[in-house]
Amino acid sequence: MTINTGSTTIQTAYLDATLPVADRVADLLSRMTVEEKVGQMLQLDARDDLDDHILRRHAGSILHTSPERLERAHALTAQTRLRIPLVVAEDCIHGHSFCEGATIFPTQLGMAATWDAGLVERAARATAVEVAATGVHWTFSPVLCITRDLRWGRVNETFGEDPHLIGELASAMVRGYQGDGLTDPTAILASAKHFAGYSETQGGRDASEADISRRKMRSWFLPPFERVAREGCRTFMLGYQTTDGIPITINEWLLSDVLRGEWGYTGTLITDWDNVGRMVWEQKVQPDIAHAAAAAVRAGNDMIMTTPTFFEGALEAIDRGMLAEADLDAAVSRILTLKFELGLFERPRHPDLARMADVLGHADHEALNLEIARRSLVLLRNDGLLPLDGGLTAGADGRAVGAEGARRIAVVGPLADDAQTQLGDWAGSSGQAGWLPDGQPRGMITTVLDGLRAHAPVDWKVSFAEGADILTLVPDPAGTHFPDGQPRPFVVEPAAPDQAMIADAVAQAEAADVVVAVVGDRIELVGEARSTATLELVGAQVALLDALAATGTPLVVVLLASKPLVLPPSALGASAILWVANPGMQGGRAIAELLLGLIEPSGRLPLSFARHVGQQPTYYNQIRGQHGDRYADLTQSPAWAFGEGLSYTTVEYADARILTAAVTREDVIRARVTLRNTGARPVRETVQVYVSDLVTSVSWAEKELKHFLQVELAPGEERVVDIALPAAECTIVDARARRVVEPGRFELRIGPSSREETLLRVGFEITA
Ligand code: NOJ
Repeated sequence: MTINTGSTTIQTAYLDATLPVADRVADLLSRMTVEEKVGQMLQLDARDDLDDHILRRHAGSILHTSPERLERAHALTAQTRLRIPLVVAEDCIHGHSFCEGATIFPTQLGMAATWDAGLVERAARATAVEVAATGVHWTFSPVLCITRDLRWGRVNETFGEDPHLIGELASAMVRGYQGDGLTDPTAILASAKHFAGYSETQGGRDASEADISRRKMRSWFLPPFERVAREGCRTFMLGYQTTDGIPITINEWLLSDVLRGEWGYTGTLITDWDNVGRMVWEQKVQPDIAHAAAAAVRAGNDMIMTTPTFFEGALEAIDRGMLAEADLDAAVSRILTLKFELGLFERPRHPDLARMADVLGHADHEALNLEIARRSLVLLRNDGLLPLDGGLTAGADGRAVGAEGARRIAVVGPLADDAQTQLGDWAGSSGQAGWLPDGQPRGMITTVLDGLRAHAPVDWKVSFAEGADILTLVPDPAGTHFPDGQPRPFVVEPAAPDQAMIADAVAQAEAADVVVAVVGDRIELVGEARSTATLELVGAQVALLDALAATGTPLVVVLLASKPLVLPPSALGASAILWVANPGMQGGRAIAELLLGLIEPSGRLPLSFARHVGQQPTYYNQIRGQHGDRYADLTQSPAWAFGEGLSYTTVEYADARILTAAVTREDVIRARVTLRNTGARPVRETVQVYVSDLVTSVSWAEKELKHFLQVELAPGEERVVDIALPAAECTIVDARARRVVEPGRFELRIGPSSREETLLRVGFEITA
């Protein structure tokens, strides 16, 4: 193989695709200058000065690129000495977020409500197919953070509050992205983030100190990461948090001892946004960028996200003897390895316009999106009003038929026809990318209003009133920008009730047979640096719900919210409450179908709902404490607990039996339970299996989810369900922070949710 440098033509082993990757990496590394090595470790923002990034700083990667900027970046790379291809990254979080016309699925939290790893894997696969066609090689997904305090702005990005559920779904998502391996042209790199403990906030505030002991880290925060590390997730992203005084970026215990050491992880580590710079200007734990760069390299970071001055800092650190050039080699080798394994030197994977036209928003992906949206909906309350008219059937065009009479539905609320809000964070116009100011194409999105208009029986009347505003924005009094030049989010001012809007909504409600009120949160209340102090519905929404409830017309509350919110009494007393996390492009159709009974509700909560913000945290698997389970003025019990969700029928659990009363650590625990669909409609039941270790050497949770499965039952059908769980799963983390099975008495608690009163208990023993 040869490369033409202008004046000479040289033999270059690294361009020889027949050589092993390690040889190619070694050859290329030996040709690189120290500046090229430092630059290779940089991932820079494509919205800034691309010429400077690529020609002067030799950046190895870019992120947040519009299609036009991507073309420019590749043209600049072609002018560089070694023409090392860029690895191109984007936050494709629930679909190809900022690509016009891509399929936008429910948020990760919405997907988690399906409790179906297979569906999640298929969503990730479809996303990878779309992403790969556009010349993006790397997605910063999935998020493995555990939801703790619901006030945190990034709850929507998680798979909820349980490490086992997170592990199952994250593993599926990684498989979906990475496909058959990096040589697969539809594979993209997955990134497990944010390693580790970022979600353990102080008061829900984003990127605060994460006050976690190593034992707690090993107990709850690390297990999902360990799983995907061992299963081959190719990259890990570090969070923003500091633990025990050490920013994760330089936490040698986590990065070297645990991740690289114990887990043997050989993948690539990337910092989060300007983590290296922030150690200087925000966290103030490094005196200058040279020290920060040296510390980040020594701690084992491979790629430095959006700290352009890492370039000067690392070179200065080398000049001052704080770092040796050879200290860069491991990181640079890992980045080059990714590029060779992706085949970027032979097949640069630039945008493929023909393929983009074929795969973006493909009909199969749309159908999958609809399936996931349907399965993500969680019915929290139903006094029998739903399904409307006792449940209808779908005609050939998808419109409901079989109603006994013409009905009038008043669709009300600020989110009933808000297409972009329905998509949630990391999509279209959510703010991280500037090139889609109007969001994803309106025609690809079905709102709740659209859905009911298109799917209600043809003679039903569907009216609409917005009824309430949510908020306005005012500038942050602290200034428009952070010290690093990033814009500060605007500050939310709740909207006051507008009596004319409420009167309009009330008039429609009074004239209707049923009101469907769609309320929730908006992007300004969601996301990075946008945690909320309250969990209540913001703005005029409570006044609207109060007024609607007062009409006496049967009320369905559709809570279209990025995360669990606290509902006012008027909503809690409604005939039905449906929680839909941002449900993606097909969400409105799925919701309409559920209300009309064209589909069955089957979503289950991947996290608990609080009754009051002061209950935080509300996750179900908290450590056993003392002094009972209530506040003086409120129960601690959540409004709805992890795992809950209603169907249009009821399922009876009976005859739970243990088949293996005594097992060793190496055995499999076997149990059996009988399920019976006691109603007149079919059901997809999520059978949840919790383990309770009755006496532990250290304090532990009362129970933990260890297994779940889904069973479909026809009306009246009875089924015996077999449960098998390796005894090795019945672990706790002991006082010395070792994960162990402690012999003794245990229980399996089997049932439809984490609520104790819904679970059947069977005892067993693990013998020494
Ligand atoms: C910061 C966020 O914390 C992270 O999740 C994201 O992937 C990066 N920015 C890149 O946009």
